[in-house]
Amino acid sequence: MGHSESTVKLRPVARITSGVPATDGAGVRMTRLIGTADLDHVDPFLLLDAFQTDNPDDYIAGFPPHPHRGFETVTYMFAGQMRHKDNAGNEGVIETGGVQWMTAGRGIVHSEMPEQKDGLMWGTQLWVNLPAAEKMTAPAYQEFAAGQIPSEKRADAVDVIVVAGETSQGTVGAVTGRPVNPLYLDVRLPQGALFCESIAATHAAFIFVVHGSIGVASDDDSEARVVEAGKLAILGDGHSVKITGLGAASRFLLIAGHTIAEPIARGGPFVMNTEDELRRAFSDYHSGKF
Ligand code: CO
Repeated sequence: MGHSESTVKLRPVARITSGVPATDGAGVRMTRLIGTADLDHVDPFLLLDAFQTDNPDDYIAGFPPHPHRGFETVTYMFAGQMRHKDNAGNEGVIETGGVQWMTAGRGIVHSEMPEQKDGLMWGTQLWVNLPAAEKMTAPAYQEFAAGQIPSEKRADAVDVIVVAGETSQGTVGAVTGRPVNPLYLDVRLPQGALFCESIAATHAAFIFVVHGSIGVASDDDSEARVVEAGKLAILGDGHSVKITGLGAASRFLLIAGHTIAEPIARGGPFVMNTEDELRRAFSDYHSGKF
């Protein structure tokens, strides 16, 4: 009791984008969905890349050593293996279904190289901003293999992998203790199945459709908004989502994080609050202080 239907607002689709083709690292081909001329950021998210190819020429060159400072990178693999290695001696392989949540903090230099010579390489990398007070924190990793990430079976054969955050049914994700209190869900649902979830009103939220297509309901439109594979849907304000599977076997990421609302000064692999801090990042890197 206490809440009437009308006080719980469904988050509508505010915008759908297909992103732009991009090349990064030593020539890896991908689609950039956030961090483009059209969509600079979705506070606190600075960048979203998706790569999906079985042509080794598109990925084999990988991402040789490069620095980061001031934010976090989240690599989530749908298929394939990526080896990472940093200048502090951390090394490992992110396998199919695995996630690496890396806090670059005050600075790391790392490489991200495919651990395969052929076959499908399919996954995403998300950049999550850090608030000013956390930008110069010590680098840290949270890394989990597929079998270590909690999941939830719901009615209608809806399957939810909880990478980060806590669901309305009480499942706590593998990645914890991050400043933007992220929700990162990987949802699979059959045609006609319904997925409902609450999202804190303080959080910016988006959906990336990995496979199939989904319908996102809103309070204002009688028809659900259709979002197809490969598309990013930015959600508007509200408290929850109501999503229906339209394709035979649809899959999407639902990602949300607390808005930081601080100035963003961004230069290549560094994201700080001011131009001064950005210059300092470049000079620290070039003088070997990372
Ligand atoms: Co990197």
